[in-house]
Amino acid sequence: MKVLGLETSCDETGLAIYDSELNGGQGGLLAQVLYSQIELHATYGGVVPELASRDHIRKLVPLFNELLDKANIAKSDIDAVAYTKGPGLIGALMTGVLFGRTLAYGLGVPAIGVHHMEGHLLAPMIENDKGVNFPFVCLLVSGGHTMLVRADGVGRYEILGESIDDAVGECFDKTAKMLGLPYPGGPNVERLAKGGNPHAYDLPRPMMGRGLDFSFSGMKTAVHNLIKDTKGSDTDPVVRADISASFQYAVVDTLVKKCTKALKQTGLTQLVIAGGVSANASLRAHLEIALAKMGASVHYAPLHLCTDNGAMIAYAGYCRLSMGQTDDLSVACVPRWSM
Ligand code: KG4
Ligand code: ZN
Repeated sequence: MKVLGLETSCDETGLAIYDSELNGGQGGLLAQVLYSQIELHATYGGVVPELASRDHIRKLVPLFNELLDKANIAKSDIDAVAYTKGPGLIGALMTGVLFGRTLAYGLGVPAIGVHHMEGHLLAPMIENDKGVNFPFVCLLVSGGHTMLVRADGVGRYEILGESIDDAVGECFDKTAKMLGLPYPGGPNVERLAKGGNPHAYDLPRPMMGRGLDFSFSGMKTAVHNLIKDTKGSDTDPVVRADISASFQYAVVDTLVKKCTKALKQTGLTQLVIAGGVSANASLRAHLEIALAKMGASVHYAPLHLCTDNGAMIAYAGYCRLSMGQTDDLSVACVPRWSM
């Protein structure tokens, strides 16, 4: 079975085909294409929703044709169409939902509306070489979400904790902005932090005694105050690298502590990290050290499947379809949608 996946919830137009017959029936990715709008939004320091929608519309058809070429298949070989139905920017979502639902109707195949965060959560299982299996705890860290989820199977999710305000990715992006780094902030903060001392400045570890919820708005204020305090020397490359490294370490330390707490609380021994921030090498490394000490393992997707992409939507769609779930003919998107 070949499932087409479409991702258009924010600023990436991602298309991919998941083929359940690849790798001797284990399944895998037949082809994928990804177009990032980063350059378009960089001038504004963040995503401009209307521009995002227009760019998705412009790119969807050419990318679809490019994907078919890459996969060396015809439209009629597609067995099902999955698309991100939410959460995300309403205009951006509409483009993918409309394209996907219409295409499925035209081809006479099932359509599956996928939850974007479920796509992220399942992404580490697409290329299942690390052997992660249900049940596990998942740390979902993206530009819009920060959550700890217990996953017992596809669709069987329990939210253990989440951010009461900002998401981790947003915090990376705002910190980058304050440091004058370009959008998207996460990878740029990580790059700058590499040359810095993570213990140079003491930043807060929010909500430590408070269960499994998170809060990152205070962290943004703390970074803002730190940059103000270092005024004059904040253009010094060493100071800038130290601020980045101290910020990243405070975030990573907070996430690691919450993850170990979630594993202890659930008694589970596998942690999956997913979403854009799971690309962060420092987060991966610190989790590996902390979890090894408690006999637990950490799993994540390859870098190209951490940030938004069509492959994770194709795979989540395939999983849902295997459970007999499909969408009706309505062209509906859900900009705010809890897991
Ligand atoms: O999952 P994603 O691509 O889109 C959303 O669903 O939001 O996540 C994007 C977020 C951005 O905030 C970006 O700055 C962050 O992930 N990010 C990173 C890294 N790569 C992307 N944050 C920290 N370190 C990274 N290497
Ligand atoms: Zn995402």
